Amino acid sequence: MCYSRLFGDCHLFFRKANSSDQSPDLDETVPLKESSVGDNVNESCNNHKLAFKSTEYEKLMESPTKSRRDSSNNIHQPTTFASISSLVRDIFRNDLKYPAATTQSTKSNTPSPTLDIKLSSSSNPTKATTNNSNNSLTNHHPTCNCSTFNGNNNNVNRLKSNGDSLNNFNSKRINRIKIKDEKKLDTDDDDNNDTNYDHNQGVKSSHNHYDDHSIQANFTKCFYPDKKSTSEAPFCGMDSKEWRVRGKEMVDYIANYLETIDQRRVTPNVEPGYLKPQLPEEAPLKAEQWDTIMEDFNKLIMPGITHWQHPRFHAYFPAGNAYPSILADMLSDAISCIGFSWAASPSCTELETIMLDWMGRAIGLPDKFMCFAENSKGGGVIEGSASECILVTLLAARYEAVKQAKKQEPNAKDTDILGKLIAYCSKEAHSSVEKAAMIGFVKLRILDTDEKFRMRPDLLEKSIQEDKAQGFIPFWAAITLGSTSCCSVDPVDSVGMICQKEGVWLHVDAAYGGSSLICPEFQYLLKGIELASSFNMNPNKWMLINFDCSLLWVTDRFKLTQALVVDPLYLQHSYSDKAIDYRHWGIPLSRRFRSLKLWFVIRNYGIEGLQKYIRNHCRLAKKFENLMRQDERFEIMNEVIFGLVCFRLKGSDTLNKKLLSSINASGEMHMVPANLGNKYVIRFCVCSQHATEDDISAAYEIISQFSANLLAIIGSEESMAALQQQQAVIQGDLTGSQQQQFTKQESQKSSIEEKEGSIEIKGGLSIDKIETTPEEETKKETEDEMPDEVIVFDRKINTSLKYRRSFFVRMVSDPKLYNPKIVKALSCSSDQTDDKDTGILSPI
Ligand SMILES: Cc1ncc(COP(=O)(O)O)c(C=O)c1O
Repeated sequence: MCYSRLFGDCHLFFRKANSSDQSPDLDETVPLKESSVGDNVNESCNNHKLAFKSTEYEKLMESPTKSRRDSSNNIHQPTTFASISSLVRDIFRNDLKYPAATTQSTKSNTPSPTLDIKLSSSSNPTKATTNNSNNSLTNHHPTCNCSTFNGNNNNVNRLKSNGDSLNNFNSKRINRIKIKDEKKLDTDDDDNNDTNYDHNQGVKSSHNHYDDHSIQANFTKCFYPDKKSTSEAPFCGMDSKEWRVRGKEMVDYIANYLETIDQRRVTPNVEPGYLKPQLPEEAPLKAEQWDTIMEDFNKLIMPGITHWQHPRFHAYFPAGNAYPSILADMLSDAISCIGFSWAASPSCTELETIMLDWMGRAIGLPDKFMCFAENSKGGGVIEGSASECILVTLLAARYEAVKQAKKQEPNAKDTDILGKLIAYCSKEAHSSVEKAAMIGFVKLRILDTDEKFRMRPDLLEKSIQEDKAQGFIPFWAAITLGSTSCCSVDPVDSVGMICQKEGVWLHVDAAYGGSSLICPEFQYLLKGIELASSFNMNPNKWMLINFDCSLLWVTDRFKLTQALVVDPLYLQHSYSDKAIDYRHWGIPLSRRFRSLKLWFVIRNYGIEGLQKYIRNHCRLAKKFENLMRQDERFEIMNEVIFGLVCFRLKGSDTLNKKLLSSINASGEMHMVPANLGNKYVIRFCVCSQHATEDDISAAYEIISQFSANLLAIIGSEESMAALQQQQAVIQGDLTGSQQQQFTKQESQKSSIEEKEGSIEIKGGLSIDKIETTPEEETKKETEDEMPDEVIVFDRKINTSLKYRRSFFVRMVSDPKLYNPKIVKALSCSSDQTDDKDTGILSPI
């Protein structure tokens, strides 16, 4: 029995499994006109949004012809056809791509190709998705229940099936796929024995079975009837044969890149907009060869890369990229399941739940955060970022707070309650906390810290009482275990006790520091964690996992999900009540298979291997701290607990800005600044996966050398004279010819630097200006300890090439300094800050 449908140039034939009969029963195929099908499907989809039920599917399988055509060959169940046709589209892989031009030519010159899908009840379905220009699948979806596609430019809404149909689909496994030239349908059995590629051997071999390779080869034959194999097909996209070659090449490329990364500049030597003139205005019409693409990558893209894995990259925090993690992502990308529900890919969900319990236990979280612990309502989930973790906990706490407030005042409006909600964090909290409050439309009180940059519980307590007295409702507080600026650790226990007493949801943000807890010697930092409602950490920072992988645990998963559940029928399935559906635990619906990389890395390193890695970073940070402490030019500004050391040259902020910008501009090393206790400090973070003592010594040498150069220049009489001259230029004291002479000298210098293609500063002085807020600018001009001439020098340098070039190295990590322009805009906006004295930020 066959079902067929014409997709432009393609007939699709569906056959019920019949192990003894592998040939199509042509008499029962029903070629349909694309236009009529498209129209019917559209209409049908509009009328029957959820029409494709398992029972219908079964019925169709039982008596297809009856239900599908009348005496005039008109279709009576277009809905079911659409479901099946979309099924077909799902079972052909995306990698079967056809260039638009070639496909068009098949319209006029070549016979219509035929896709032949056999259905059987045996296991191991072969899944694939067709994709050609006439019938492009725009939304590759794993469950065949929520996609849209275009068929001959008609938008055809995919029918939405429920869990039953999905299960039925599984029971009616599709395990045979064959694509043939329509001309050859009558010789179908011959094709079963056709010559196909043995990709392991790279040579042709004979198969009796349809497999992925024969699908590819046969499909090629459909569209390129004169060609015998994929290798002979006109070039388009990448077939699996080429993939095997290119994939291996890429692995070598990556290994070479990482092995020789130390020979590169850390930061790129490009200016904003460098790429635009080098790429065509429009996307290429014709397919391009892979070699050309990679050549362009090397020539155009690589020069604009900041090398985060470079041993002299000491900015921000580490970006994990262990090999097993890269491999896991590769596999996950290939599987390409979108695990928004258990049914969408059971192992994707189940592995995630188990990994979160593994990790939770490994870092010493109590049972109440675990999914599988007895009597626990808790559990963990992988989110895309720490910012997302923070936001969803604020939203969950907000939901709960509004619910509780309505119990007290049933007639109160949600909006009135929302206006009273107030959240808390310290000055050192990450900017994502501020962002979460903005998105959540709640007030945020930002509290001062103690001498170690930790939240002050006494201040929290006082603020809560004051706010309550004013009619506010304290509902959420975020503390940090390893702050971004300086890795300070807020006291979980004392803050936790206050939050518990006041019914405030306490969230612990351990985005970076959390990974340290895998070592038992750091777990003392968790004291009081049982008082928290949620906790997040980023293994993609400091646990060797590639971005993205942010872990969030909650003690009450129902409180989390009640704020986020929206449950359209098409996403429901028959196990909804028994299984976790992670789409309710976060903002996006679609989710990558991220737990795979956790699983690979944890197993491949073992907890011991991960501990070793963390301890090495902490030990090296201590080494760096010691080197700096022994050098009397420097001071250490933070308590070094993890892999981060904050230091500064003894002297002004300006001096330190110059030091950092000089180092960054050199491309030899990369660090970012922070603002600690109103002082500009330089953050040195141990980031490289394989960092060694030599790397630390080398880093210290670079900093030391640049500092010596800077101090020498600042102190030299010669530079003083130069500065005076520059000052005169700026103030217009020079005569016209003197000015011309000066400008000429300066532009010559700039063009030499341009030719050299790098911002060389050793032996000279290259200075970037760090953008400042208006307040900082004023402070700098009035209070700076440095002589005036340095400021003058700064002003002059603002106009220089170096200043323009340094844009990309002016990225900063301090939460309050992310984008000075935004800070400036915010400080100008009277709406943003309700009360500068109280430190409360209001969303309106
Ligand atoms: C303490 C802390 N929290 C949150 C974040 C934000 O992380 P993400 O980029 O995953 O949103 C960072 C980033 O560095 C951080 O250091």
